[in-house]
Amino acid sequence: MWILSPGSADILAGHNRMELKLKTCTVRPWRRGDEESLAYHANSYKIWRNVRDKFPYPYTIENARDWVGVAAAEDPPSNFAIIVDRQAVGGIGLVFKDDIARCGAEIGYWLGEDFWGRGIVADAVRGLTAWAFENFDLHRIYAGVLEWNPASMRVLEKAGYQFEARLRNAVIKEGVVMDEFIYAVIREEIS
Ligand SMILES: CC(C)(COP(=O)(O)OP(=O)(O)OC[C@H]1O[C@@H](n2cnc3c(N)ncnc32)[C@H](O)[C@@H]1OP(=O)(O)O)[C@@H](O)C(=O)NCCC(=O)NCCS
Repeated sequence: MWILSPGSADILAGHNRMELKLKTCTVRPWRRGDEESLAYHANSYKIWRNVRDKFPYPYTIENARDWVGVAAAEDPPSNFAIIVDRQAVGGIGLVFKDDIARCGAEIGYWLGEDFWGRGIVADAVRGLTAWAFENFDLHRIYAGVLEWNPASMRVLEKAGYQFEARLRNAVIKEGVVMDEFIYAVIREEIS
C-alpha cells in the first residue's frame, strides 16, 4: 500500500499502473490512445453546462491530445479515465488541497451521454474514493455541485457522500449565478 502526502515529490514505482476494476467500469490513468474516444464522448453541451468553464466545448481532438499529454505525465496520477468496453468514455479526478486544507481533496467527474443512467459514475466515485483514502494521507473528499444538477447529487449520495452545505450564489455558469451544493465523505465513514 502507498501512503503519499498530497504534493509529495515521492515517486513510487507502480503507481501509474493503478487500475480499479469495478462492477460497471474500470478506472485507470489516462494514456496515449485515449484521445479519439475522449474527444468523442467529452464533446457535449450537457456535460459542459455542469462542469467548470475550463472544460472545453466544443471538445476537439486537439483538446483531447493536450489533456492526455498532461494527465498521462502525472506522477502520482490524480486524473483517471472511466473505461467501458475498453473505451475511455468519461473522466474522474482529484484535486489535492494545500496548506491547512491539505487533509482534503475535491473530486470531479463526467461521463459520455451514451452511458448515463447505468450506475457507472456512482460506481467510479465509490471506487476512487476508497482507493484515495487507502493510498493518500487524506481525511476528507468533497464535491461541489451546481444547483441545477440533481443527478450528480444523487451520484454522490449513492457513493456514500453526505450533503453538508448549500453555498448561496457561490458559482456562475452560462451567466446564471446560483448556489453550490457541497457533498463530502470523511475517512472514518469508508472501510
Ligand atoms: C451526473 C453524471 C455524472 C451521472 O452519471 P451516471 O453514470 O449517469 O450516474 P448514475 O447512473 O451512477 O446515477 C445517476 C442517478 O441520478 C438520478 N437522476 C438522473 N437524473 C436526475 C434528475 N434530473 N433528478 C434527480 N435524479 C436524477 C438517476 O436516477 C440515478 O439515481 P438512481 O440510481 O437512484 O436511479 C452524468 O450525467 C454527467 O456526466 N453529467 C454531466 C457532467 C456532470 O454533471 N459532472 C458532475 C459535476 S458535479
